[in-house]
Amino acid sequence: MMLAPKLSYHKELPMNLSIQLAPKHHQGLRLTNPVMTASGTFGYGTEYSHTFDIQKLGAIVCKGTTLEPREGNPQPRLAETACGVLNSIGLQNIGVQALVKEKAPVWASWHVPVIVNIAGETIDDYARLAEILDGVAGISAIEVNISCPNVKAGGAEFGANPKSAGEVTAAIKAATSLPVLVKLTPNTSDIAKVATAVAEAGADALSLINTLRGLAIDIAKRRPLLGNITGGLSGPAIKPVALYMVYEVVSVVDLPVIGCGGITTASDAIEFIMAGASAIQVGTANLTSPRAPFDVLEGIEQFMEKEGIANLTDLIGAALVEQGINC
Ligand SMILES: Cc1cc2nc3c(=O)[nH]c(=O)nc-3n(C[C@H](O)[C@H](O)[C@H](O)COP(=O)(O)O)c2cc1C
Repeated sequence: MMLAPKLSYHKELPMNLSIQLAPKHHQGLRLTNPVMTASGTFGYGTEYSHTFDIQKLGAIVCKGTTLEPREGNPQPRLAETACGVLNSIGLQNIGVQALVKEKAPVWASWHVPVIVNIAGETIDDYARLAEILDGVAGISAIEVNISCPNVKAGGAEFGANPKSAGEVTAAIKAATSLPVLVKLTPNTSDIAKVATAVAEAGADALSLINTLRGLAIDIAKRRPLLGNITGGLSGPAIKPVALYMVYEVVSVVDLPVIGCGGITTASDAIEFIMAGASAIQVGTANLTSPRAPFDVLEGIEQFMEKEGIANLTDLIGAALVEQGINC
């Protein structure tokens, strides 16, 4: 990738943080700025819309949605770790019909785009979900979770394998006219191969990463701490892994990549953008402060102003260099 020239920013000129996340899609998916919320950490957005000016965000990604409502995994479902969290929520959600009936009409009155995150057990589940969401007012795009490590319905087996990841993507693309973002798992031996297969199958953008599979033990009980035994690790602990995977994937696909994993501050977000991400998602940081995405956005603006950068696109991939051997 060519390094973009640094354009100087003058206070009287507005800064441009907007980004096109689906440049190959007929409708496109334009965000006014690159800050999104990560699925499962910001509910349906409606929970926060009375407290925060959520319209300021680039986009909201809602909780993972399945064909039928789900109660989720047995408690406990959350365990704090050093610099992160292990969760095994198990895709607790209201189901797609209730989402279309109760949430989408509210989203239709917002100008911030809402992206629906979907999960299924079979390719048909995913295709059916995409079909149901197609054309529903208030829904701007679909994010496909083929990466939840906590339940069978989370599609992690699809996401770990390039062939099945491509097949799910193709089936969803055939079932909807909405832009399709595919969310990749780090729990695979070669994320670049999965990314390539998903891109070839027609994805409009990629989000990465979902959580890393992990375990915690309750030593008093001599048992795994989480009700589901294993969970997904997220938060600052996974940031270097996520950053590396973004760096790796942008070099093999010609699609916008959305970086996610441990982003807590504006400088975290800027690292992802410099590694090649076109947008970023704030996840676990919302659990301690739902202000986090707003602070991240403000910090990116301040950085651009300080550095004299007029367009966010000038920062994308600014740190990309040839990789060396590190052992
Ligand atoms: C409590 C919790 C629930 C989550 N639920 C979902 C989900 O429903 N669908 C999904 O694709 N990712 C889900 N994730 C993963 C996040 O969206 C994100 O990919 C991951 O946590 C890494 O980002 P972070 O370190 O900023 O949290 C969840 C994460 C957490 C912590």
